[in-house]
Amino acid sequence: MQELILLTGASTGLGAEMARYLAAEKMNLILVARNQEKLEALRSELQIQHGITAHVFATDLSQTTNAIALYQEIKNRNLEVTMLVNNAGSGVYGHFDRTDLNQELAMIQLNIASVVTLSKLFVQDMKTRNYGKIMNISSILAFLPFPYYSVYSATKAFVLSFTETLRAEMEGTKVQISAFCPGPIDTPFNTAEMLKTNGYKANPPADPKWVARKAVQHLLQGSGVKVPGLLNWILTSTPRFSPRWLTLKINKNLASPAS
Ligand SMILES: NC(=O)c1ccc[n+]([C@@H]2O[C@H](COP(=O)([O-])OP(=O)(O)OC[C@H]3O[C@@H](n4cnc5c(N)ncnc54)[C@H](OP(=O)(O)O)[C@@H]3O)[C@@H](O)[C@H]2O)c1
Repeated sequence: MQELILLTGASTGLGAEMARYLAAEKMNLILVARNQEKLEALRSELQIQHGITAHVFATDLSQTTNAIALYQEIKNRNLEVTMLVNNAGSGVYGHFDRTDLNQELAMIQLNIASVVTLSKLFVQDMKTRNYGKIMNISSILAFLPFPYYSVYSATKAFVLSFTETLRAEMEGTKVQISAFCPGPIDTPFNTAEMLKTNGYKANPPADPKWVARKAVQHLLQGSGVKVPGLLNWILTSTPRFSPRWLTLKINKNLASPAS
């Protein structure tokens, strides 16, 4: 079966690099993000370099009505999505009493509501077909409640928990559900303020090409939850051994500006 992979957040960063690896594997793609120009440029690059077919849908997934419309448009065009990668995401960093509520609500819609909406719609088709994969991009912060990333780390904890439970429900079928939980990645996601924190100094952002290669390997061959990189694995394992108050104290220091 010719795979057709729907990749959200494909215009920049991890998503764009994953698209390049998937195209090199001769997978056809549906590229989704808001920036049509960047998506079109990526489509041309991938079609020329790898001879694959790539479709572009520019839409704002911080509105779930757009996620539903995206699914309907894909069905109208008779495109059969065999894999879904929920990668689009945004982050908000800062003291919760000072960050922008509208930005946080849009982030919740994008990081949570659209992931649930697209998963719900595509998993039904995959279950009927008894074939498909969904990989959700979470974060190491899913394991580590992080002060100053309060809402963001909670959205990623939601994604991880949701993915694990959906995976359990799909056991015994040929629909595979997985989560990929990277640490810091060198992408436009990181603001200048984030980059000045102790956490980024101790665990510098990884090359997005390296992370994308791990993500694609996990999508195509892996299963369950993957945390790429030894340091990230150690960081996500510490809450199992340290009390919650200590984890929060350490994380608060990591998320604070380096002196
Ligand atoms: N960078 C890190 O340190 C890091 C660490 C752990 C996990 N992650 C996760 O990795 C994923 C990819 O992030 P990244 O680092 O590659 O960041 P990025 O370069 O900022 O990419 C985010 C992608 O999501 C798209 N996007 C943002 N808002 C959108 C919206 N409202 N509707 C549709 N698409 C939207 C962006 O494209 P448009 O602007 O064109 O819409 C872009 O393609 C995210 O889920 C993020 O939470 C990142």
